[in-house]
Amino acid sequence: MIPADRLATVELSLIRQINALATPLSINLGIGEPNVEPDERLREMARAAITTSWHYSPNAGHLSLRKKLCENTPYDAKSEVCVTAGTQEGLFSIFTAFVNPGDEVLVPNPGFLVYATLARICGATVVTYDMEPPSWQIDLAQLERRITPRTKLIIVNSPSNPLGSVTDAATLQHIANLGPLVVSDEVYREIWYDAPPASMSGMSDNVLVLSGLSKSHAMTGLRLGWIHAREALMKTIVTAHQYVATCASVVSQALAESIFSDPEWNAQWLNGIRAQFATQREAALYAIEHELEFEIAKPAGAFYAFAAIPACDSISLAKTLATDAAVLVIPGVAFGSHGEGFMRISYAAPVEQITAGIERIGRWLRANNR
Ligand SMILES: Cc1ncc(COP(=O)(O)O)c(C=O)c1O
Repeated sequence: MIPADRLATVELSLIRQINALATPLSINLGIGEPNVEPDERLREMARAAITTSWHYSPNAGHLSLRKKLCENTPYDAKSEVCVTAGTQEGLFSIFTAFVNPGDEVLVPNPGFLVYATLARICGATVVTYDMEPPSWQIDLAQLERRITPRTKLIIVNSPSNPLGSVTDAATLQHIANLGPLVVSDEVYREIWYDAPPASMSGMSDNVLVLSGLSKSHAMTGLRLGWIHAREALMKTIVTAHQYVATCASVVSQALAESIFSDPEWNAQWLNGIRAQFATQREAALYAIEHELEFEIAKPAGAFYAFAAIPACDSISLAKTLATDAAVLVIPGVAFGSHGEGFMRISYAAPVEQITAGIERIGRWLRANNR
């Protein structure tokens, strides 16, 4: 059986390969999902959600949920929002809707590896723009230089996976006005520390904003996301989404609607998870400074620390740490060539595990004179 050409260069991600090395004794700091369990109120909302209708919803999602998602946004609930089976499916639908073979897609480097993969699946050329250390900000001049008449999409991800950095509103506005369509992946937008990150919502008619409940409500397995975009773009997206997913799970849609119908509980939930991640971030930064002996810029959002490693190739180091030190971290190069020399440490883990995991890395590096 010969796989389709579009998958010829697509492999299981390095994240999967590293996770496959886990044993029961491993400490997993490679995780991309919140270490948060639903509280009793969220479970109660989920129990109620399962009792609602199980039939198909409209392709774009139930109008009652779309109305909630459009509150306090410049988008129209009837024509400018589509509920998706997670942000990932939203990305797939957007790429399917707009990207042709031969197009160019501008993606952050380092950045979430799915963007480049989806571009390749569509036969497009991946063009990267660098995120610059130590604060991991966008080099706007470089990004602009890389735009050509063939640039179909510019992908922006703030807060960033894997960097934890946040892009300021002025930079986002500048990108919104550059000309090509801009996909703003805001799935980590509710996970912030000192100040809420800016959204690209409404910044121009070219912008498509993606978000979802996977990270903010630890609902990774319930697959609920959404896209906001102007009507002219949304029509094509909904057509693509129809053939990818038909509609998002109606149970997850009902749960999302309950969440947004209880703003008091929601605000308290979000404050709770921000406080938990703030504690975990402090533990990670303290251990990185004391065990690995370097300081990194404080991540302003999400739950990742992108830490420099001693001069060596980050894939072998991550594999060796997994097998010899029983700690899983993701090699920076998994997120693009500019990530070489770094590793992504996820602090979506209990404080004891964060501390013990980073201690194990430090001990292994010292024992091996790194
Ligand atoms: C930057 C980014 N975008 C999108 C996703 C996909 O999230 P979802 O569970 O909503 O599909 C992830 C998941 O790790 C992510 O890190």
